[in-house]
Parts: sequence; structure tokens; C-alpha cells
Amino acid sequence: MTTNTQHTDIPIALAQGIQALASAVPTTPWLSDADKQALRERIKALLIEKDAVLVAHYYVDADLQALAEETGGCVADSLEMANFGNQHPAKTLVVVGVRFMGETAKILNPEKRVLMPDLGATCSLDEGCPAADFAAWRAQYPDRVALVYANTSAQVKALADWVVTSGNALQIVRHLHAQGKKLLWAPDRHLGNWIARETGADMIRWQGHCLVHDEFKTQALIDLIAKHPDAKVLVHPESPESVVKLAHVVGSTKILINAVQNLPDEKFIIATDAGIFWKMQQLAPHKTLLVAPTSGEGATCQSCAHCPWMALNGLQNLAQVLATGANEIMIEESIRQGAVNSLNRMLDFSRQQGLVVAGRKDT
Ligand code: 13P
Ligand code: SF4
Repeated sequence: MTTNTQHTDIPIALAQGIQALASAVPTTPWLSDADKQALRERIKALLIEKDAVLVAHYYVDADLQALAEETGGCVADSLEMANFGNQHPAKTLVVVGVRFMGETAKILNPEKRVLMPDLGATCSLDEGCPAADFAAWRAQYPDRVALVYANTSAQVKALADWVVTSGNALQIVRHLHAQGKKLLWAPDRHLGNWIARETGADMIRWQGHCLVHDEFKTQALIDLIAKHPDAKVLVHPESPESVVKLAHVVGSTKILINAVQNLPDEKFIIATDAGIFWKMQQLAPHKTLLVAPTSGEGATCQSCAHCPWMALNGLQNLAQVLATGANEIMIEESIRQGAVNSLNRMLDFSRQQGLVVAGRKDT
């Protein structure tokens, strides 16, 4: 029988602190077209000089995504970012995203220098799952296999058996469930609930949330669907259950992009960070893309479908870290040794299942 016991004692003060922090995050400075062009040229030259490559997420500014592609780097979901950095020969990886993505790159590539434009670029899921609390929670369930989402610290990954992303969590949980394993899941409650519903796995779940996806509003989305009955609804599984239930496609950022590119439909309503629209529009320029509502009844709209921490990445701080070598990610070796096992388990499984581009560099 499936049991779905829930962990509920995440401090309210922490959640409120995260909200306050998000609204206090400064935005990147305004730049003229000429400033941008000069910075782009400087970054291109520095990438060659420093033997560096950009590894960017779909949620960062369009200028940064375009530059990553133009210079032979990658723009990807968190799974493919981990895979790309692990295979690319450059001596320096510049991770343009949030902190857990930079830490993942360093864990998998200890011999490389990993830089980030802003080390303050965190994630509400990571912040809401402190390693000491996770360790105490895990200790209560010694018979369970512990899965943690990639959006966690290196310390939490070191305490887990598997790391997963929204691009492989369904497959990994199905695999473990088929072996009769009972699971512990942290930290995203909505992703965990969706996976448990889809697989029937016995998963005890942490109750973290993404402050961006948590804001999508069900009734406002129902109203938008009524106005656009011809639109397909694409939802990232960090969104609330009632929003996920309205989706035609649920999945990682990469899966949602593939849906826009490959489905025959002309119109899409998209419940994820609006940074993703740049890649979607590039691959399907004639299609109509509508952002799912974050306003409506009960809305406070802290993020308005854009991650405040992804927004800390800009051309200026990118050029600066490349020039100076500042903001290097460092991870204590004992923690790295623990975390690399759970990450490699994920990457090996994903490569075997064809969920990432094939290839392997020894770590
Ligand atoms: P993806 O793995 O789907 O890119 O998601 C990462 C993330 O932080 C979503 O909010
Ligand atoms: Fe974290 Fe949400 Fe930002 Fe993704 S969008 S990095 S889950 S806060």
C-alpha cells in the first residue's frame, strides 16, 4: 500500500524570510545597446583568453543565453547543464544560473575552476532545506532511499542516495519503485506530489516550494484557458497541484521547450519562468506564447514569473568575474566526495536512458 506521510514543520519564519529576501533582491543595471555590445565583445575575448565556457540556464536574461550559444557554451535545463559541464574540455566553467548549478558543476569537475557572476544567486528550495534539518529528518527513516532535487546544497546532496531533476525524476522514481524501494523526497512538495501521483511510489515528502512557481493562480489560469480554448497548457511541476492538473504537458524546462517546438499547435499558455520564452520563440518564431497568470484572487506577485536570483546574472558581472577570477565556487573535499556519488548515479542513469546527450568524462 502507498503511504504519503508529509513532513510539515519547515519554519514559517524561514519561508517569510525567503519572501522578504526575494523582494529585496536588486535588479541588474540598465545598459545601452552600445554598452551591451562592448561587454559582449569583452566577454568573448575573455572566454578565449581564460579557456572558459558559459553554461547557462533558460531562465537567465536573453542576452546571456544568446552569448552562451554564440560562444560554443550551452543553454539548458539543470540536468543538461550538469551533463554539459562534465563533458566540455574547457578549464573554466562559468555557470550563469543559480548557486546549486555552480556547486553541481564543481562537484562533478573538481579539477576545473567554476565561476559564477553572483554568488548570492540562491534558490528558495535550497534555502528551505538546511543540511542539519535534512540530516535529522533523514535519520528518522533509515530504511528509505533518499532522493533530493538538484535544487539543494552540496551538503544535502552528500546526505542523499540520489539527486534528481524534473527532467529525470519520473524515470528514477519508477525505477526505484519497481524494485520495491520506499523513498524519502526533498525538498519541493509540488514536484514530489506530482511524482507520487504519477508513479504510485511510497514517498515521504519534505514541504519546500519554489517561490516563482508557487505563485501561478488556478482560477486565473482557468479564465485564460476559457479565452484561448485552442491553446495547449505547459506547466513546470514545481507549480501547485491544481495548476499541474490543468496541463497538457508537465515537465522540465527542456520538456516544455520541446513541446512548443514539436507539437502541431500554434498557441501555448506557459506556467514557468518567463526567461524560457527566448528559447521557445527562437525555435518556434511563428507560435503564440502566453505567460500563465500570477495575478488574480489572493495574489501577492513577489516574482511575477521571473526568478529574482536568476535575474542577478548580467553582462557586467559576467565580464567582471571572467576578468578577475572572482566568485569561484569552492567545496570542501569530504562534502564533494559524498555529493559526487548521488550526482553520478543520476547522470549515469540519465545517460543510459538517453535523457541527456551521451558521453562521459571521468570524475
Ligand atoms: P529545470 O531542471 O527544469 O531546468 O528547472 C530548474 C529550476 O530551477 C526550475 O525552477
Ligand atoms: Fe529556485 Fe524557483 Fe528560482 Fe528555480 S525558479 S532557481 S526553483 S527559486
